[in-house]
Amino acid sequence: MAVILIYTLSFFLLSLVLSPQLSSSAVNTMYQGSSISVEDAKHFMLSPNGIFSAGFYAVGQNAYSFAVWFSEPHGQTQNPTVVWMANRDWPVNGKDSKFSLLQNRNLALNDADDSLVWSSNTISLSTVAVRLFLDNTGNLVLREISGAGVVLWQSFDFPTDTLLPLQVFKRHAKLVSSRSETNKSSGFYSLFFDYDNILRLLYDSPEVSGLYWPDPWLAPWGAKRATYNNSRVAVMDTLGNFSSSDDFTFKTSDYGEVIQRRLTMDYDGNIRVYSRRRGGEKWSITWQAKAQPCTIHGICGPNSLCSYHQNSTATCSCLPGYKWKNHSDWSIGCEPKFSNLCNKIESRFVYISNVEVYGYESRIMENYTLKQCQEFCLQLCTCKGIQYGYSFERNTYTCYPKLQLRNVHRSPYFNADLYLKLPANSPYSYEGSIHEHSPHCSSRTTQLEREYEMGHESRYVKFLFWFVGGVGGLEVLCIFLICFFSVRRRGQRYRRVDGRVYNLAMSGFRKFSYSELKQATEGFSQEIGRGAGGVVYKGVLWDKRVAAVKRLKDANQGEEEFLAEVSSIGMLNHMNLIHVWGYCAEGKHRLVVYEYMEHGSLAKNMESNALDWTKRFDIALGTARGLAYIHEECLEWILHCDVKPQNILLDANYHPKVADFGLSKLRNRNDTSTRSSFSMIRGTRGYMAPEWVFNLPITAKVDVYSYGIVVLEMITGRSATKDNDTSHSGVEKQQHLSLITWLKEKQKNGCACFNEILDPTVEGVYEEVKMEALARVALQCVEEGKDKRPTMSQVVEILHKYCNRDHDNK
Ligand SMILES: *[C@@H]1O[C@H](CO)[C@@H](O)[C@H](O)[C@H]1NC(C)=O
Ligand SMILES: *[C@@H]1O[C@H](CO)[C@@H](O)[C@H](O)[C@H]1NC(C)=O
Ligand SMILES: *[C@@H]1O[C@H](CO)[C@@H](O)[C@H](O)[C@H]1NC(C)=O
Ligand SMILES: *[C@@H]1O[C@H](CO)[C@@H](O)[C@H](O)[C@H]1NC(C)=O
Ligand SMILES: *[C@@H]1O[C@H](CO)[C@@H](O)[C@H](O)[C@H]1NC(C)=O
Ligand SMILES: *[C@@H]1O[C@H](CO)[C@@H](O)[C@H](O)[C@H]1NC(C)=O
Repeated sequence: MAVILIYTLSFFLLSLVLSPQLSSSAVNTMYQGSSISVEDAKHFMLSPNGIFSAGFYAVGQNAYSFAVWFSEPHGQTQNPTVVWMANRDWPVNGKDSKFSLLQNRNLALNDADDSLVWSSNTISLSTVAVRLFLDNTGNLVLREISGAGVVLWQSFDFPTDTLLPLQVFKRHAKLVSSRSETNKSSGFYSLFFDYDNILRLLYDSPEVSGLYWPDPWLAPWGAKRATYNNSRVAVMDTLGNFSSSDDFTFKTSDYGEVIQRRLTMDYDGNIRVYSRRRGGEKWSITWQAKAQPCTIHGICGPNSLCSYHQNSTATCSCLPGYKWKNHSDWSIGCEPKFSNLCNKIESRFVYISNVEVYGYESRIMENYTLKQCQEFCLQLCTCKGIQYGYSFERNTYTCYPKLQLRNVHRSPYFNADLYLKLPANSPYSYEGSIHEHSPHCSSRTTQLEREYEMGHESRYVKFLFWFVGGVGGLEVLCIFLICFFSVRRRGQRYRRVDGRVYNLAMSGFRKFSYSELKQATEGFSQEIGRGAGGVVYKGVLWDKRVAAVKRLKDANQGEEEFLAEVSSIGMLNHMNLIHVWGYCAEGKHRLVVYEYMEHGSLAKNMESNALDWTKRFDIALGTARGLAYIHEECLEWILHCDVKPQNILLDANYHPKVADFGLSKLRNRNDTSTRSSFSMIRGTRGYMAPEWVFNLPITAKVDVYSYGIVVLEMITGRSATKDNDTSHSGVEKQQHLSLITWLKEKQKNGCACFNEILDPTVEGVYEEVKMEALARVALQCVEEGKDKRPTMSQVVEILHKYCNRDHDNK
């Protein structure tokens, strides 16, 4: 009795201190014979610390579930965050329903007609008294009062869609998403331990099912998971460290603080960790499993195409020739506007570049030409189209005839295209269909703070006028070429998730201390690079990873602002972008930690003549992919603005990664101390687009220009910057320019003498078609008018096409 008294008293005091508006009918313990009735909204359970509540929760009109939720925010209008539900799929009536702890030690939820909707299945004849207690971690525990306090049942063993800190996720447990943002009943996505002991995400709808995390094409070891540990447990601690018995671990981006957290299987198929400092605040996302929502299965239904939208997770649009089944439910997908396609002669293919269609192929056929692949699909009545492209792991062109078009999404760096089978006489094209969801990314411009010194302008202007004159005659050719580039495509990735603040957390991104980095770089002793933004040092981190540590100079930004910028960069994850591992912001020190690249910069490799033609083409394509990715993000601030061979790094296999992007904002733009005459203009002379000189709006096309110059350098072996600072610089400029013009003339005349422009020092064979394509694209990129230049994703598209054509002889 004394215990009860103390509990009651302490609760009474707590409720006075914490939440004066709470009614005194809130309890934290229920005893045998007591019950909570649905009509009495003031009757619920409260954890001793006041953070969690348990009781009846309205899931719809006159529909209630027994649930545990975060107490704050209070009130009917603000939906509290539910963490557990007893009867999510069988809500009870708003009248005469009750939740009871019976004398037979069973917990029972009865509907209005007294039917049993849910129970804890703990009926026993034992006479040992039990109680139900809502503890400070949010766990609802039924245990014996006397003796060892045996736990008979606890809500932590039966999670719904949320895992709280210290809640152990066990062998047979499942987190199942809600049906939608508003409908809390069981949805189609779940997190569970698979038979091979791996923690996975599954999409399981009535029609189809599929695993989608870890990436299904990866073997467990490829996903850095261990299959041997059969204990199948996972838990997140209070600091934000999640670890699972399959060796999967992560730390939230705000790791270390003891605050409110939850890991939730969201209705959109992603698992996320949310945190907040206290009750009244909004939840911030501090980790999520899938960075790209379109790779979650079932987001868009069959025959629809997933793309990213700036302000939401993903949007779906019907493939050409298909229409919505139900406009208000994307997950149902689209249906064909045509009848059947069995007649071979009456079919044709519509090409959509860089599309992944995951699964549902009739078979996988290696070493097929595009023609053979299309032929196969035409023979097959049920074939809806083919995915065709070069497969790196198979090392050959591969044909995937698709029987269903599900999990379809575009990605600028996906190495295969979709050829959609449609009736020959149909008017459908890709262009028409994509427009409904295409925001105008490329038309958005940002005015950056820029100044330039007049004295230096004239030389540039002269050179540009000269340039314009030389290019003028080529307009006809340009118009012709632009037809190739006119496919408008805009897939966008999101920055915010449903408007919620995206706090960022790619696994691995973290904060470093200054002393840690000082130690790693042995006191900043081994310099490996130097640029406008600062000096780069080589270092070895405590976990033996070799890193490049960039020390930003003149970065007197506040820590929070710096973190916001650097974490946005860390969010970008692409095989052709340098991976950012973390940052350091201490006092006046601002450092960024990157992965280290074995072969150093493209500039260095070109100087030492280490690159053959195949490598050069692959570097051009890879660099284009990396830039296309940052541009596609539609984050104008992340324009590279300084594309040059020094900023393209090569890994052990000579795969290129673009470095130094997004850093311009980290630098102090008001710095007037540097002596460089162009300090206010971002970029490097020789690579800068005319817009900078004419003070025109700066768009993604400035990067395209610089990219074009880099590619021309790779092709011709001539430098765009050498001797820039000698007294002959004007002459050099003209040579550089006349090269461009000369190239264009060659191009116009059909170029029988293409090899004349190639870098004579490079040995070995080259594929003429490929190199010509590259040269042509590069020349387009250095067009003076920004609108004449292709976008980076168009460059990727074109180079891909030439790869295919080259191989295919189609
Ligand atoms: C939630 O979705 C389920 C399954 O589609 C449906 O049966 C139920 O009526 C929905 N509930 C509400 C409140 O809309
Ligand atoms: C996270 O938790 C795992 C398992 O409990 C532990 O091995 C690891 O050291 C923890 N990491 C940190 C940084 O605390
Ligand atoms: C399996 O994983 C659990 C939890 O991470 C750990 O406690 C246990 O030691 C592991 N067992 C083996 C054999 O590694
Ligand atoms: C997203 O932005 C578009 C246009 O920018 C707007 O039409 C749409 O309503 C927005 N969607 C959301 C969910 O805010
Ligand atoms: C489309 O879906 C909405 C919401 O799921 C539903 O209310 C409506 O009846 C559906 N319409 C048709 C034509 O099936
Ligand atoms: C693909 O086909 C070509 C010619 O038919 C052959 O030389 C090559 O070995 C094949 N490659 C593979 C991976 O089967």
